[in-house]
Amino acid sequence: MSTATFTSHALPLDDDAVQQLSRASRPLAAVTGAELQAPLIQGGHIRYANLDYGASAPALTVVSAYLNEILPYYASVHRGAGYASQISTSVYENARNIVRGFVGGRPDDAVIFTRNTTDSLNLLAGCLPVSDAKHAGEVLYLDIEHHANLLPWQGVPHRSIVAAETLSETVATVRTALSQGGVSLLAVTGASNVTGEILPITELAALAHEFGARIVVDAAQLAPHRRIDIAGAEIDYLVFSGHKLYAPFGAGVLVGRPDWLDAGTPHLAGGGAVREARLDSVSWATGPARHEGGSPNVLGAATLARATQVIAALDHDEWHAHEAAIRSHLVDGLKQIDGVTVHQIFSDTNPQDTIGVVNFSLQGYDAGLVAAYLAAEHGIGLRDGRFCAHPLLKRLGLPSGSLRASFGLGSRLEDATRLIAGIEALKSNGLGWDYVVDAGRWVPANDHRSYPEWAPNTPGTAGAAPCTTD
Ligand SMILES: Cc1ncc(COP(=O)(O)O)c(C=O)c1O
Repeated sequence: MSTATFTSHALPLDDDAVQQLSRASRPLAAVTGAELQAPLIQGGHIRYANLDYGASAPALTVVSAYLNEILPYYASVHRGAGYASQISTSVYENARNIVRGFVGGRPDDAVIFTRNTTDSLNLLAGCLPVSDAKHAGEVLYLDIEHHANLLPWQGVPHRSIVAAETLSETVATVRTALSQGGVSLLAVTGASNVTGEILPITELAALAHEFGARIVVDAAQLAPHRRIDIAGAEIDYLVFSGHKLYAPFGAGVLVGRPDWLDAGTPHLAGGGAVREARLDSVSWATGPARHEGGSPNVLGAATLARATQVIAALDHDEWHAHEAAIRSHLVDGLKQIDGVTVHQIFSDTNPQDTIGVVNFSLQGYDAGLVAAYLAAEHGIGLRDGRFCAHPLLKRLGLPSGSLRASFGLGSRLEDATRLIAGIEALKSNGLGWDYVVDAGRWVPANDHRSYPEWAPNTPGTAGAAPCTTD
């Protein structure tokens, strides 16, 4: 692909920049659905530009191939003496070791498989030492968090603080709050799902420990974009989701210090979580089993682990250069368009400390309408709404939401170029179709595009985006 395509929004490019752009013109890793054709409302098809990785990333083809390889061995875990059960159990238990290695876990860290990040944080909320006078205290969190790292804490003693205008002032604010005492856990995101800004988790972990608290890092967004070393950074707990890490098969994980987890309320009471059950009492197991009641999601755990291996093997510099080139191309292009505002939380964020997430709005247009237009007329998928971060969106002055483009290993520069062109076309020509609000969501009027027969009722039935409405 010629780099000349990408020079229209920027100053002349030096050799390094040209090289970066040419690297980003290709996906860094193969993902399923990379050539998916999306139907256009005015007729015809176009390659689907998936700019919604932050919500759920496509499967790596290596991961889906692995799934097919292990499927014939799929059987019960921890419950059978048969050959397939033994293999399945081995795959499941080995997945813990792989994930522990991926995050640089300590040898005694628990690795508990859950449904997703939300599940992992709810699990941890049930394990806070509320009745242990030595460790009991409040959970402290910022107002920039995803609801998954906000709502579970509302059921336990908690305190929230508003992030400051700059990251450095925000860290100082956290320090002040911690220094007042009484905090047992600092809950913080590794990277904002709204703007992609990275938080200084190593510094925050040191601060928490200085004041006798622990830290949990919500790595749902960070883990797919940056290496994390929890032992090195002294992070007590880390949580993330397979479906955002190129393994969309229904598993999440909580990794961290075992003591609170072994003493906490079992997350799913039931088979497998007990040492001995009696008719009206029970001795609970310790270790991951305590929280993994019921039959585990062996394929979810195995594919999550396989995805971490692929990510761990990426060349660090290439990985970051690929993502940074797409991000800066998109941000620069959007900023050139009159009426577009690119949003960020902190005024002092270093562009290097951002992941593949770009948040913006277009003056005069409802975010949901722009998203519907981009999907219907340009075959581009991105997210609109409030991103399950209502307090932050309100504080940013975006109570009715904004747009979020997010990308990763399977993305290419052309996806960003198409988004910029789509917004430019909207500015110059307006909408090319009529749109109506159906069930709280903008959709094209008279949508006669055909969808696969196994996805019935698709047009107009998406409903309100999660976390869009109150
Ligand atoms: C930062 C962050 N935390 C938590 C979550 C919740 O993840 P899940 O839906 O996998 O539970 C998300 C999902 O968007 C997220 O972006």
